[in-house]
Amino acid sequence: MSESESRPLTASWALYDRARELIPMATQTHSKAPREALRGVEPCYLVRGSGSHVWDVDGNEYIDYRNGLGPVVLGYCYPAVDQAVRAQLEQGIVFSYPHPLEVEVAERLVSVIPCAESVRYLKTGGEAMAATHRLARGYTGRDLIVSCGYHGWLNTMSKPGQPEAVRSVYRDLPWGDVTPYETVLREESVAAVSVACAYADIEAGHQFLPRLRQLTQEHGALLIFDEIVTGFRLHRAGAQGYFGVTPDLAVFAKALSNGVPLSCFCGRRDVMAAVQEVVVSSTFGGDTLGLAAARAVLDLYAVEDVVGQLWARGRQLHAGFERLCETLSVDAGFRGVPPLGQLGFHYPDAQRNGELFLRFNAELLRRGVIIYTVCYPNYSHTPRDIDDTLTAMDESLRTMQAEGLFD
Ligand SMILES: Cc1ncc(COP(=O)(O)O)c(C=O)c1O
Repeated sequence: MSESESRPLTASWALYDRARELIPMATQTHSKAPREALRGVEPCYLVRGSGSHVWDVDGNEYIDYRNGLGPVVLGYCYPAVDQAVRAQLEQGIVFSYPHPLEVEVAERLVSVIPCAESVRYLKTGGEAMAATHRLARGYTGRDLIVSCGYHGWLNTMSKPGQPEAVRSVYRDLPWGDVTPYETVLREESVAAVSVACAYADIEAGHQFLPRLRQLTQEHGALLIFDEIVTGFRLHRAGAQGYFGVTPDLAVFAKALSNGVPLSCFCGRRDVMAAVQEVVVSSTFGGDTLGLAAARAVLDLYAVEDVVGQLWARGRQLHAGFERLCETLSVDAGFRGVPPLGQLGFHYPDAQRNGELFLRFNAELLRRGVIIYTVCYPNYSHTPRDIDDTLTAMDESLRTMQAEGLFD
């Protein structure tokens, strides 16, 4: 794939300018907001996807590593999933009593997820995390949630808009070092420790998570895993499968249904039973399109090594990029593990790294590759896609080097 200065992006940016008048930030998802610094280079609007490729509103084609920010784990318009959704659409979307799919998907989830004795569905990852926090409080009779990592906007306490009283019953702690968790669990009455893995340093989970399991048990707190990104990607059974640590509750979303909106929270039967008391209930929780998609995804995972292939394609990308960086003496690379590696420049100056990453994005977009800070391979990426991506990365780094950006 070679650079084409003539990629038209006029329709994308005209739409963006219209949207800015109507939609704050011109997006529903902050991480998808088009970047002014990439005006004329970044495709603001995508209209079609197939496998590992997407097309923007101007008709340009890209190899995509954003994958809708994670959910598209099998590929865009994956036939088995889309057929399942179409077939369900013919029958109806939401009913006035539960639908058999709720049971069928729960049976499949319980059979693959170690902590899952019972299961409930919602639509977004953040609300399912909020449900686990409420359950933990209801079950333990304690208020404080100790939180590690991003759990969605509803559970973000570091921004304006949360009353101090709400903030005071959350405590944010970093990934990896168990010491501050020991202190807070010893000194305060903690309902739950709620953890999302940090991608760049994910392998620290081998020490960190077993220790958190032990500590939470010692102090009568619940352990909650946010598996919204790790689920069906790091391992078929998420971080709990990969690290061999079983939490009390967990949330799965994104990859669960290959992009059709669905989240689930699951875990110990006695804790999950508290949904009745604390009330977790939503009109769209049992929507059948998400569940039909999830059943198709789970059936595919049962017969094909999807996660093995995500690892293989990710490895090809990581190793290839490492070779390019070595050859050109550029301080950049992937950190973490291949299915969810974090891409960045690693010079001492953080601001410079940010600027280099933005420019690298621009160079890759000109060559038809969409990246993200976390680059997600999907099941439809072919070895040829990865080779084409590496060619684009090589050309991009060389262009930047020729301008002295790595001196
Ligand atoms: C680890 C993690 N938790 C929670 C969320 C929130 O999920 P949602 O955007 O579906 O509410 C995200 C979203 O990116 C996430 O990455």
